[in-house]
Amino acid sequence: MILLGVNVDHCATLRQARYRTHERTVGGPVEPDSVVLAQLCERAGADGITVHLREDRRHIQDEDVRRVRSALSTRLNLEMACTPAMVAFALDVLPDSACLVPESREEVTTEGGLDLVGNADRVRSVIHSLQEAGILVSLFIDPDLRQIEMAAALGAPWIELHTGAYANAYHGPSGPRRAEFDRLQAGAERAHALGLIVNAGHGINYVNVAELRTLPHLHEFNIGHSIISRALFTGIEEAVTEMKRRMNPGT
Ligand code: PXP
Repeated sequence: MILLGVNVDHCATLRQARYRTHERTVGGPVEPDSVVLAQLCERAGADGITVHLREDRRHIQDEDVRRVRSALSTRLNLEMACTPAMVAFALDVLPDSACLVPESREEVTTEGGLDLVGNADRVRSVIHSLQEAGILVSLFIDPDLRQIEMAAALGAPWIELHTGAYANAYHGPSGPRRAEFDRLQAGAERAHALGLIVNAGHGINYVNVAELRTLPHLHEFNIGHSIISRALFTGIEEAVTEMKRRMNPGT
């Protein structure tokens, strides 16, 4: 059974489109509320909620993270950059897990995951600080064997394989799509052999999930954009239920 973490960032994107300059993130005319959405996701079967507090605060705000932290009955996964300010924030809010993602150009690999090989010392120190506080750490990386081996060497228990290149190739010719899938498969196998828990995310939707779910050793998918998009038409509960059904048909 693959678990589902729902990323509610784009609920906040919608709020920010209208209320960016408002002094509060909730109350009065301000809508929609990502915290209520997160609770509805849980009610529909989400196994956890993910929020990404970006340096530029383009969607999720500090107050959203604090509110969602105390409102959840499942798990809070905070996506965050490897900066001192974000580490201080995480140590204050204490999410259940933190997924380290790139923020600046220098930290990004060609595919878009965190470049562990080029940032090993900094990432190691962030992992250490978060783990000392009891926060489980995941590393968002490409399905690249060098990055996966470095993840194991750095001592993080989880990785999240970046599925964006596969999602981009999905509607193109079959060769590149097959190649991206094979890279994910080899990456998942190597990570598992190294003792890492394997999550995956970025660009997963109701169509490509049929193939992605067949990857070996999957623990959890983190999915945002596609679920929030579908929810505009069906409501969030149906959107979550249907994704879980497609992730785990027959269960
Ligand atoms: N996982 C990580 C690490 C991400 O940065 C994102 C995008 O915020 C997601 C998963 C979710 O991607 P999507 O919104 O394309 O489902």
